[in-house]
Amino acid sequence: MGFCLSLIGRSISSFCGCTILLLFLLSCSCFTSTEAYDALDPNGNITIKWDIMSWTPDGYVAVVTMYNFQQYRHIQAPGWSLQWTWAKKEVIWSMLGGQTTEQGDCSRFKGNVPHCCKKDPVVVDLLPGTPYNQQIANCCKGGVVSSWVQDPANAASSFQVSVGSAGTTNKTVRVPKNFTLKAPGPGYTCGPAKIVKPSRFVSQDGRRVTQALMTWNVTCTYSQFLSQKTPTCCVSLSSFYNDTIVPCPTCTCGCQNNITQPGSCVEEDSPYLASVVSGSGKNSYTPLVQCTKHMCPIRVHWHVKLSYKEYWRVKVTITNFNYRMNYTQWNLVVQHPNFDNLTQIFSFNYKSLTPYAAINDTAMLWGVKFYNDLLMQAGPLGNVQSELLFRKDKSTFTFEKGWAFPRRIYFNGDNCVMPPPDSYPWLPNATSRTSTSLLTLIMVLLSALLLLNAHV
Ligand SMILES: *[C@@H]1O[C@H](CO)[C@@H](O)[C@H](O)[C@H]1NC(C)=O
Ligand SMILES: *[C@@H]1O[C@H](CO)[C@@H](O)[C@H](O)[C@H]1NC(C)=O
Ligand SMILES: *[C@@H]1O[C@H](CO)[C@@H](O)[C@H](O)[C@H]1NC(C)=O
Ligand SMILES: *[C@@H]1O[C@H](CO)[C@@H](O)[C@H](O)[C@H]1NC(C)=O
Ligand SMILES: *[C@@H]1O[C@H](CO)[C@@H](O)[C@H](O)[C@H]1NC(C)=O
Ligand SMILES: *[C@@H]1O[C@H](CO)[C@@H](O)[C@H](O)[C@H]1NC(C)=O
Ligand SMILES: *[C@@H]1O[C@H](CO)[C@@H](O)[C@H](O)[C@H]1NC(C)=O
Ligand SMILES: *[C@@H]1O[C@H](CO)[C@@H](O)[C@H](O)[C@H]1NC(C)=O
Ligand SMILES: *[C@@H]1O[C@H](CO)[C@@H](O)[C@H](O)[C@H]1NC(C)=O
Ligand SMILES: *[C@@H]1O[C@H](CO)[C@@H](O)[C@H](O)[C@H]1NC(C)=O
Repeated sequence: MGFCLSLIGRSISSFCGCTILLLFLLSCSCFTSTEAYDALDPNGNITIKWDIMSWTPDGYVAVVTMYNFQQYRHIQAPGWSLQWTWAKKEVIWSMLGGQTTEQGDCSRFKGNVPHCCKKDPVVVDLLPGTPYNQQIANCCKGGVVSSWVQDPANAASSFQVSVGSAGTTNKTVRVPKNFTLKAPGPGYTCGPAKIVKPSRFVSQDGRRVTQALMTWNVTCTYSQFLSQKTPTCCVSLSSFYNDTIVPCPTCTCGCQNNITQPGSCVEEDSPYLASVVSGSGKNSYTPLVQCTKHMCPIRVHWHVKLSYKEYWRVKVTITNFNYRMNYTQWNLVVQHPNFDNLTQIFSFNYKSLTPYAAINDTAMLWGVKFYNDLLMQAGPLGNVQSELLFRKDKSTFTFEKGWAFPRRIYFNGDNCVMPPPDSYPWLPNATSRTSTSLLTLIMVLLSALLLLNAHV
């Protein structure tokens, strides 16, 4: 129900930007109590698998692998960190392909000093270029992990731990507790470790199968409402049949406020800009955005460009307003009922996502490698664009009531805030304004209910 509430809230509050923000915050607080759930990727999760490969005199050696089973949400720089709490007094003697951020107090050890003695170690990936003798397969990518659809070959990340002061048989070993995955900020909730059937490994020539001595799995799921208080992306709309460009809602991601927050954004032509962009702030991951009314790091513009007899054409432009971020391997998820008749897409990769087998209305779009898979920092190069050609289905197609505009857009897995439905550009001489917006509201509500029903 929280979903419906937020939709109602957003469409009703169109008359005042502040109310939108307020209602949005209110709807967020309803969400936090519910379970992590993404309607467009209902089974999405990150599974962390511990395989005990050998027993040692005082513990075991395990390979820990994180699989990103999410369709479109990836982990970008500065990468993941994984924390857990040991069940007993375990220590980490050594690691390959990863390291703990702190060693902790190892003073009880004489001679050999462990890699980490903390009760709740935090592990991070090693950086690219790590010496070969400290690497293992799937390691050393600075904690960057691709999504399952975009690049399955890079959707896993591994490290090896050698654990001491631990159980040395599958009866005495204790599974670690309280896993916390940051990617890099909050957003993921991890369940308890569950002992599962030992993993099997097939040799490269396929002629021999080995298996782990013991395996446990931890499943982590994402919720945008845990991850951040403010949106990071907004949508603007325009069409060939109406001159109005509907901008992103004002204050979507923040408000310009020179008094309480000077320097919260940068003017495009500010002399200060050059020093910010090339200077010290470069490695900071807090966004530094160009001054706009919406203050979002990312804006997605949907332009209904042309109508042919049998087809219609849309131009999509993604603009980066963040001076501190080059988005590598960005992706967009778009929901529109005409995606079941997408005929052609120019200069982006495309895959249809069908979370509910019967409904084919959602697509994932991402850049072409070495061409536009990098969305550059704010500035003249900070945008990518594509055109989509849809075939009109006579029974559903219309330019009325905002039908040609997307129902939902995600950038890198995070929801982009849409303008209120009653502000969408309308066809000249359409039905009166109020009835249009009411109809739109009813349509949105109905489709939300359908979606909710589809997975109950
Ligand atoms: C995690 O995702 C995988 C792949 O989609 C799925 O097979 C598995 O059931 C999911 N696990 C949980 C606990 O949802
Ligand atoms: C532990 O190992 C024994 C054989 O040594 C095996 O029979 C048993 O199923 C294993 N238990 C688990 C939980 O893996
Ligand atoms: C689990 O770990 C988190 C992060 O370190 C910590 O805040 C929390 O208190 C821990 N919970 C338990 C039950 O140990
Ligand atoms: C444990 O995780 C691995 C890797 O994701 C998966 O192949 C296996 O099916 C999982 N086991 C269970 C019981 O979920
Ligand atoms: C902030 O300052 C800029 C120019 O420095 C100005 O254009 C803008 O209107 C100011 N915003 C507010 C909210 O005062
Ligand atoms: C983005 O990439 C360009 C070109 O590679 C580089 O000059 C710039 O410093 C990068 N910006 C950031 C914030 O990393
Ligand atoms: C969804 O529709 C598109 C466009 O017709 C098609 O390419 C795609 O294969 C469809 N996907 C499924 C799962 O039916
Ligand atoms: C649109 O796609 C649906 C489902 O794939 C198909 O049944 C229908 O015939 C298509 N319509 C057109 C006009 O191609
Ligand atoms: C274009 O759409 C806007 C609503 O966004 C409306 O106010 C305006 O009257 C429309 N223009 C025409 C020519 O119909
Ligand atoms: C649209 O409405 C305006 C004013 O109501 C009228 O002058 C105009 O002729 C109408 N245009 C069409 C194409 O009906």
